[in-house]
Amino acid sequence: MTNVIKNKTSEKYKAPIVEALKNACENPSYQFHIPGHTKGNGSLPDFKKLIGKKALCVDTTDEFDGLGTLHPATGPIKEAQELAAKAFGAKKTFFLLNGSTAGNLALALGLTKKGQKIIANRNCHRSLLTGMILSGAEPLWLVPKKFDEWGIWGNIQPESVEELLKNNEDVSMVWITNPTYEGVVSDVKSISEICKKYNVPLIVDEAHAALWNFNGHLPQSALKLGADAVVHSLHKTGGSMSQSSMLHIAENSMLDCDAVEKALKLLHTTSPSMMLLASLDAARANLESSRGKKQIERAVNNAKYLRREINKLETIHSLKPDFGYKTDVTKVFIKSDYLSGKRLESILEIDFNIEVESASDAGLLVLSNIGNTRRDMEYLVKCLQKIDKTKYSDICYLENKKHMPMLVPQIKMTPREAFFSDKEVIKKEDAIGRISAEVIAECPPGISILLPGELITKEHLPYLADYETLEVLK
Ligand SMILES: Cc1ncc(COP(=O)(O)O)c(C=O)c1O
Repeated sequence: MTNVIKNKTSEKYKAPIVEALKNACENPSYQFHIPGHTKGNGSLPDFKKLIGKKALCVDTTDEFDGLGTLHPATGPIKEAQELAAKAFGAKKTFFLLNGSTAGNLALALGLTKKGQKIIANRNCHRSLLTGMILSGAEPLWLVPKKFDEWGIWGNIQPESVEELLKNNEDVSMVWITNPTYEGVVSDVKSISEICKKYNVPLIVDEAHAALWNFNGHLPQSALKLGADAVVHSLHKTGGSMSQSSMLHIAENSMLDCDAVEKALKLLHTTSPSMMLLASLDAARANLESSRGKKQIERAVNNAKYLRREINKLETIHSLKPDFGYKTDVTKVFIKSDYLSGKRLESILEIDFNIEVESASDAGLLVLSNIGNTRRDMEYLVKCLQKIDKTKYSDICYLENKKHMPMLVPQIKMTPREAFFSDKEVIKKEDAIGRISAEVIAECPPGISILLPGELITKEHLPYLADYETLEVLK
C-alpha cells in the first residue's frame, strides 16, 4: 500500500503511481535497460532543455521493481486503477494509452464478433468504426437531427434507439456518443432503460465528459445512469497528459471484463509510459481534491461569464446552453453573423494569438478548461469585442471547403468487407459513384466524412478539398 501525500493545503490524497515514480526518481539506479536515452543522457541537448531533465528521468516503462505492471495490473498501477474506479463510480477501470481510441477499439474487439450488429450514431468518433473493422461487427446507424444554422448535431432520441432494437433482433450492443463534440447531451437514462428492456448492453463514449462526475452543474455521467461501460479522455478535459484515457466498466454490468482486458492487451504497447500512467493517477487525485473541485467550478463560472459577455455583442453569438437540448456548459459554441467559423478562428489565431478547440463552417468551439483563469477569459472577451466592432471580411476560398460532415450515408457494404476488398487509388473527381475503401475524418472532431463501404457522391466533394485522390473499391 502507498503512503498518503499531502498537498499545499495539507489535504491528504493518494496517488500511488506518482509516489512510486517519485521514489524511483529520488533513488536513481545504474541503468542498463530501456529507454536508451538513460535519463536524458542520450538525448539531444536542445530537447532535454526543452522538456527538462526531470521529465526524462521519469520517462520509464512498467518493467521495473516498485512501479507495477499494466497487463496484468499489479502494484501501484493496480492500486491507481482501483482508486480511479472508486472516484468515477465504476466496478473496474482500465488505464488507457493511445487515448479513448484504445478503449473503443478494445470494447469492439473484446465484446463483438463478425456479423453482429451495433447500433451507433453516425456522428461517432472514427475509433468506433475502426473497432468495427477489426471485429467485423456491422453498424446500424442512428442519424441524429441536425441544426444547420449552427452546423451541429442534436442528441440521440431514445425512440430512435428503440425503433432499431425493435426491428433488429441480432443487435449485440448500443453504443452512443455523449455528449457530442459541441456538448449536446442525450437522455442516457431513458436509452439505458430501453437497452435493459431489450437485454442489450449500452456503451457510452464519454470522451469529452471526464469532469462530469465531479461537479453538480455538469450533466450526470452514464456510469450513474445505467450504462455498462464508458470511456473518458482524461487528457481532453480532466488534466492528464495527451493520449492518456480511462475505460470504466459499470458497477452492475454483466460485460465480460476479461474479454475487454484481453483485447486491451492486444492493442496496447508492451512499453507503457509510466509518465502517462502517472498523469492519469495525478489527474484523478486532483479532480477528487478540493483544489480540483474549485478548478471545475471556475471552468463552469468562466463559461457562464463568457456567454454573458458574448450576449452583449451585436454580431457574435453563443449557442444557448438550453437551446432545446441539455448541454455541457463548459463547451461554448460561438458564431458570427458575417464570418464563417473557420474565418473567425483564423482572426483569433493570427490577430490575437488565441487557439480554440475547433472550427467548422458555421462556428467555433471554445473549451472552458480547468486550467483556464478568469484572465484568459477576459482576454478572449476583449478580442471578441474588437472583432465585433471591426468590419472583417470573409475569405471566399475557405467557403469552398466544408468542414463538419452532416451527410446521410449511403451504405453499400460493411466497413470490414470494404476495408479488406481489392482497392485502387483514383482521382477524387472520378470517384463519384464509387465505393469508399477508407475512413476519411478530419480531426478534430474525427467524425467521418466517408467510411469504407459508403457510396461517394458529389455532395462529399466540398468536404474533400484537401484530397487529390481517394481509395475506392475496384
Ligand atoms: C467522441 C470521441 N470519442 C473518442 C475520441 C478518441 O479520443 P482520444 O483522442 O482520447 O483517442 C474522440 C477524440 O476526439 C472523440 O471526440
